Amino acid sequence: MPLFGKDLGIDLGTVNTLICDGGEIVLYEPTVVAIDIEELKIVDVGQSAREMDGRVPDVIEVCRPLRDGVIADFEVTHRLLGHFVEKVCGPSRLFKPRVMITVPLGVTSVERRAVHEAALQAGSREVYLIQEPLAAAIGVGLPIATPSGNMVVDLGGGVTQAAVIAMSGIVSEDATRIGGMKLDEAIVSYVRKKYGLIIGSRTAEEAKIRIGAAIPQDEERTIEIQGQDQVTGLPRPITLTTGEVIEALQETLQLQLVAVRNVLERTPPELASDIIDRGMLICGGGSLLRGIDKWLTSATGIPAYLAEEPVACIAKGAVRGLGMLERLRRTLPQV
Ligand SMILES: Nc1ncnc2c1ncn2[C@@H]1O[C@H](COP(=O)(O)OP(=O)(O)OP(=O)(O)O)[C@@H](O)[C@H]1O
Ligand SMILES: [Mg+2]
Repeated sequence: MPLFGKDLGIDLGTVNTLICDGGEIVLYEPTVVAIDIEELKIVDVGQSAREMDGRVPDVIEVCRPLRDGVIADFEVTHRLLGHFVEKVCGPSRLFKPRVMITVPLGVTSVERRAVHEAALQAGSREVYLIQEPLAAAIGVGLPIATPSGNMVVDLGGGVTQAAVIAMSGIVSEDATRIGGMKLDEAIVSYVRKKYGLIIGSRTAEEAKIRIGAAIPQDEERTIEIQGQDQVTGLPRPITLTTGEVIEALQETLQLQLVAVRNVLERTPPELASDIIDRGMLICGGGSLLRGIDKWLTSATGIPAYLAEEPVACIAKGAVRGLGMLERLRRTLPQV
C-alpha cells in the first residue's frame, strides 16, 4: 500500500458503482440514494437505499444521481461517493486515497469537472479520470500499448460506448445515451401495448435478466409477472416468454448498435483489419444478456466475445491505470 493511503479504481455508473482496491472489488452497489425530502437529508445509500424504492412513505425519495452516464445531481453524487469511499477506507481523513474514476466517452468538460470535483470532495487526495472502454481494455489485459487495434464495447445501464484503442490511445470512439435502462422501458411499453398491463421498470428488468435474450434461444423460458390492469386498475398476473422479451428488445438493441457501427466506420483500414481478426470485446452489465455476442456478431460481421469479468473489469482497469499514468497521459481526459 502506498505511504499516503490506498489506490482506488472507481467505476461510477448510472446503475452501479464498483470500487477496486488493488486487485479486489471491495464495493459493488447500486448508484442509488434515499433522501428525506422534508428534512433534505440523505437517509441511505446503495443497496439498502434501492431496497426502499416503492416501500417507504412519500417523504423519502429514492433517486439515481447519474443520468445517461453523467452526473445529474452534483450534491447527491458527491455525498454518495463520500459514503462509498468512507465504507472502503474507513472514516480516517489522514490517509486519503488516490483515485482513478471512470467517465463515459464524449462527456463535456463541465461533466468531467463535476466527476473530478465529486471525487475530490468525497475525500480523495488525487483524482484522475479514465474513459470506461479504456479502463475495461486495461482491466482485461488487452495489449493496448501495441500498434494493433483493440475494440471494446461497453453495454452499460445508461450508455453504450464503443472504442478502438491502439498505442495506449483511443483512435476512434462513439457513445449513445441508450443502455440497459432503455431496454427495461421497452419491455414496459411492450407489456402495456400487448396486455394492457402496467408494470414497473424493476419488474421489466427482472424479466430481462431472468428470461431475456437478444436472439432466439434453444431454451425458451417463462416468467410470471404482476402488473396493474390499465382499465380496471386491478392487479393482474401474466406469463411472459423469452420470445416476447426478444421481440420487445429488438428496436432498442438496434439503437445501441449505432455506436458500434459509427466506430467501425471511423476506424482506419489498417486497424479495422486487426479488429476483423481479433474481434470486439464486450463488457458492462448489458453484455450478460443471453445471445448478445451472437447478435452483435451477425449485425456487424465482426466476432464479439464476452470479457472474463464483464462488469468488474472496468473498476479493475481503472486502478491498474494509476500504475500507467505516464503512458496514458496523452489519452486520459483532463479537467
Ligand atoms: N443478466 C443480464 N442480462 C441483461 N442485462 C443485464 C444482466 N445483468 C445486468 N444487466 C443490466 O446491466 C445494466 C447495468 O450494467 P452496468 O453496471 O454495466 O451499468 P453502469 O456501469 O451502471 O451504467 P453506465 O456505464 O451506462 O453508466 C442494467 O441495465 C442491468 O439491467
Ligand atoms: Mg458502466
